[in-house]
Amino acid sequence: MSQQLAISRAARLLGVSRAALQKRIKEGGLHSFDGTITSEELLLLYPDLELEDSGLFERTQKIKQDAFRRRVMDRTLPAKEVLAERLFEQSLELNDIKQHLQHYHTLVVGLQDKIQELSSGQQEARNALKLLDEWLEHELHHVLGEDKKPDTFDVMDAMLKVMSAHVTLQPSGRDFFVEGNDTLLEAALKAGLALNYGCSSGNCGMCKARVISGQVMKVRHFDYVLSEPEKQQGYTLMCCHTAVSDVAIEALEATSASDIPKQQISARVKAVTPLSQDMMMLHLQTPRTHRLRFLAGQSVTLGHVEAGSGEFPIASCPCNDRDLQFHIQRGLGGAFGEKVWNGLKAGENITVYGPWGDYLFNEDSQNGVMFIAFDRGYAPLKSLLEHSMARESAEDMILVWGASTVDGHYMSNLCRAWDDALENFHYLPVSVADAKTEDEAVTQVVESLLKSFPKARLLDLYLAGPESYIAPARDKLLAAGFSASKLTAMVV
Ligand code: FES
Repeated sequence: MSQQLAISRAARLLGVSRAALQKRIKEGGLHSFDGTITSEELLLLYPDLELEDSGLFERTQKIKQDAFRRRVMDRTLPAKEVLAERLFEQSLELNDIKQHLQHYHTLVVGLQDKIQELSSGQQEARNALKLLDEWLEHELHHVLGEDKKPDTFDVMDAMLKVMSAHVTLQPSGRDFFVEGNDTLLEAALKAGLALNYGCSSGNCGMCKARVISGQVMKVRHFDYVLSEPEKQQGYTLMCCHTAVSDVAIEALEATSASDIPKQQISARVKAVTPLSQDMMMLHLQTPRTHRLRFLAGQSVTLGHVEAGSGEFPIASCPCNDRDLQFHIQRGLGGAFGEKVWNGLKAGENITVYGPWGDYLFNEDSQNGVMFIAFDRGYAPLKSLLEHSMARESAEDMILVWGASTVDGHYMSNLCRAWDDALENFHYLPVSVADAKTEDEAVTQVVESLLKSFPKARLLDLYLAGPESYIAPARDKLLAAGFSASKLTAMVV
């Protein structure tokens, strides 16, 4: 029997992004009703789907490891208490269905008896009732006698319900899945949502949210005390609870930079890794109980006790708020940059202060997105890109990266891997090492992107790079017909 599946759940079952399914719907290849799709139609679209088939995944290896079918088999199994609760919920649902079926069966048998009873009346009525009886017999035989193969989607959906819970946020209507041992907060961050939170460890109460429907369960210790009225109204701490059934939650979400408080954190250097001759990656890790809350595209001030401080864009995703990455160019960032290039060691302390800036992703836009980086402008764009991937909201994502040195595309392997694995991501590296001026370099990049993506004018544009590139790039893009209202730029 065909069933209605929410688009986000269908995407999880198939291991594709929600945006990929939405694109199919928009193109007319798939029909949706009220935000749902039928399992029958999905099977028509993916006829060879099998539980063990990994060929349909459209994500990178890393993303594949996070995908449903892998999670079923390995490390991210929910805790046994959570599994038990979910199985209990499932068995209640099954029991309910069973009772309904028994009820209908009794009704059908009663209907057959009634037909027999009425068949002794007038000839015309007898003929009609005979036809009805034959039809009923035939349909019952068809339904009960058919050796039906279980619907793959039904099996996977039932499994998915045990392995993960679907959470809908109010009032925004955004949704996400909770898997493994994740708390509600961790799962929301992984899905790219900017929920309100502070300590992540049950002390501050900032992640308080009201459970409207469904069941949550405590999975971490917390010291914060909810008041009696809060408990009665269904408030819970998202950093210490997980969902054991599909739930709806009323929670605060950040919608602008002003919703994110300034924070000061003492982080530890996890690694300092050269990316190219002129680019170094600084990887910081915050304490487990003091993470950095920020939005994709923002910057922070980094300080070292001996080497002073400097402001740098964060090159990683807010979905991982403990692991912060920065791309530090040789010769930039003053004494702090100098220290990174000459002698900063793993384990040293760095003060992180911020976040700053409002170079943010437009969550409300329905358009595809194009990211245009010039040299080190890739760093904030990587954060925006990873956030956009976590949100699975953009139908198309294009990265155009103009590099003025031979090894300037210092993370091309990662970008190519995304390009290979994601149906809706395209990467265009443009070498402008032979350009004599920035103006000439910008012309080469704009011409290349227009040639490769003739419909780029419909997309939202995010531009980032050194000042000498940004001003001419903006002028040339506007002259080429791009809309100023869709263009956001950041000087790094
Ligand atoms: S974030 Fe502080 S209690 Fe949850």
